[in-house]
Amino acid sequence: MSTTSSSLTMLSLFLLLCAAFGNSRITTNHRKNVLFIVSDDMRAQLGAYSGPNFPSPIHPQMITPNLDRLASESLLLTRAYVQQATCSPSRTSFLTSRRPDTTHVYDLKSYFRKVGGNFTTLPQYFKEHGYESVGMGKIFHPGKASGGDDPPSWTLPYFHPRSKRHWTTKERSWYAATHDERKKRPLPDEQIVKHAVKMLRKLAPKAKSGQKPFFLAVGFYKPHLPFVFPEEFLAMYPPSEIHLPPNPYAPENMPSIAWTTYRELRMFGDIAQLGLSGDINTTIPSNVTLDLRRAYYSAVSYIDSLVGKLLAELDHLGLAQSTIISFVGDHGWHLGENGEWTKHTNFEQATHAPMMIRIPGLTDHGIVSDQLVEFVDMYPTIVEAAMLGTLPVCPEESSHIEVCTEGTSLLPLIFNRQSEASSYAFSQWPRSGKMGYTIRSSRYRYTEWPKFRRHHIYKPKWGDLAGVELYDHLIDPEENRNVAYDPEYASVRCELSLLLREGWRGQETN
Ligand SMILES: *[C@@H]1O[C@H](CO)[C@@H](O)[C@H](O)[C@H]1NC(C)=O
Ligand SMILES: *[C@@H]1O[C@H](CO)[C@@H](O)[C@H](O)[C@H]1NC(C)=O
Ligand SMILES: *[C@@H]1O[C@H](CO)[C@@H](O)[C@H](O)[C@H]1NC(C)=O
Repeated sequence: MSTTSSSLTMLSLFLLLCAAFGNSRITTNHRKNVLFIVSDDMRAQLGAYSGPNFPSPIHPQMITPNLDRLASESLLLTRAYVQQATCSPSRTSFLTSRRPDTTHVYDLKSYFRKVGGNFTTLPQYFKEHGYESVGMGKIFHPGKASGGDDPPSWTLPYFHPRSKRHWTTKERSWYAATHDERKKRPLPDEQIVKHAVKMLRKLAPKAKSGQKPFFLAVGFYKPHLPFVFPEEFLAMYPPSEIHLPPNPYAPENMPSIAWTTYRELRMFGDIAQLGLSGDINTTIPSNVTLDLRRAYYSAVSYIDSLVGKLLAELDHLGLAQSTIISFVGDHGWHLGENGEWTKHTNFEQATHAPMMIRIPGLTDHGIVSDQLVEFVDMYPTIVEAAMLGTLPVCPEESSHIEVCTEGTSLLPLIFNRQSEASSYAFSQWPRSGKMGYTIRSSRYRYTEWPKFRRHHIYKPKWGDLAGVELYDHLIDPEENRNVAYDPEYASVRCELSLLLREGWRGQETN
């Protein structure tokens, strides 16, 4: 987009927002609250994502009526990609609107304020604009990676459920908890919803009078391993309806650097006893695969039911029309497709994740967008939806800049569904001293694996690659065949390589 057309866009956007919020005089009474919901390891396999136009491999439908309802009143991003498919790097990225090469968070230990810069996070931005900002469960990666839930982000004490340790056993990869067990020790996410409801009730009066709006961040721990959920959810998925993945093998011509040995799953007692190596083109036995898929689906439906409770409480308190709701999973998850498990890859299954944003007055009838978008886009979108300004784009060196974005607001998608600008999504995954940089275009996924060092501003050595991958989603939506070396794809590869090396910044000027 040129500058003129984007400022025109901003102007029409502003007018639209004013109209949607019913008054051109914006007073504090009109400030919207935000309910920001994150689910851990939830891939984009919700009911709302199924159907002929769903761009990823077709999966059986999961039962997610509450998220489907939310989706039907939201801007639903069917092709949203995370910047790095693991917890802390992805969350740090979308909570600061900067990419891993700027936050310098590639692992589960580094804290962005120490290794990247003293960036203003999304909840902190609302805090600094007079909001009550409240967090619970898993928003930032806990512990060292966030200096303990990133204290500058919140105005009120952070909440952790007490039963977390009890239910996070390393003995079994999944468990259907009985009613009696839960009565004795509620599941962590059940405690989170209970606390969220309590907080909503507490925050409602001041939010409704316009005295103090809220930014309430609710981070669910599931469907992350171990898949623990109330046993009744298992009954939603009769074993006869659970199927093996169609492609339990690695892509043809895949470079070994692309592979994860899914240690995160293999270390659970029940999986460890199978003695699996996790090597390329080995996978988990069929009967165990079916059990894991069934348990994962059950855990997703369980989280869906908890989201339903939150939405019901918002309605009940009369806050639904004054609260923006966003829902995301922090990245996708391999459930045996390509023989892979967990995340930790650059494949579609790991980088593609659910994202939806409900903005009262703007998305009431639901808007489905299949534009390629990125998780760094969320922060500027929510800030604009709340009419709290437009974030400037970060310069190349932004470690000293507290507020800026390496994404783009998605609000234009609301009134211009078919954006004519072609778009790309960028993700990355580090492995063995290399960084796999990947670009998703509307038809292809293309990846290069150059050497990588953690220097502050590091330029990858593109001449020295440990692997190149190209998947043609038009004829191979499951990423079963790497065609990077096929002569007939030579010109496509060349074009995508240029785009990849230019990176997201290269797209800004187009
Ligand atoms: C980081 O920023 C916060 C507020 O934005 C400020 O209170 C704090 O002192 C800063 N920390 C450092 C190390 O600069
Ligand atoms: C994995 O197995 C499949 C199916 O047998 C085969 O086509 C593919 O080339 C193998 N991939 C690798 C990377 O060995
Ligand atoms: C899977 O099948 C094997 C052999 O057929 C059996 O020993 C094992 O107990 C089964 N595991 C599960 C979880 O059903």
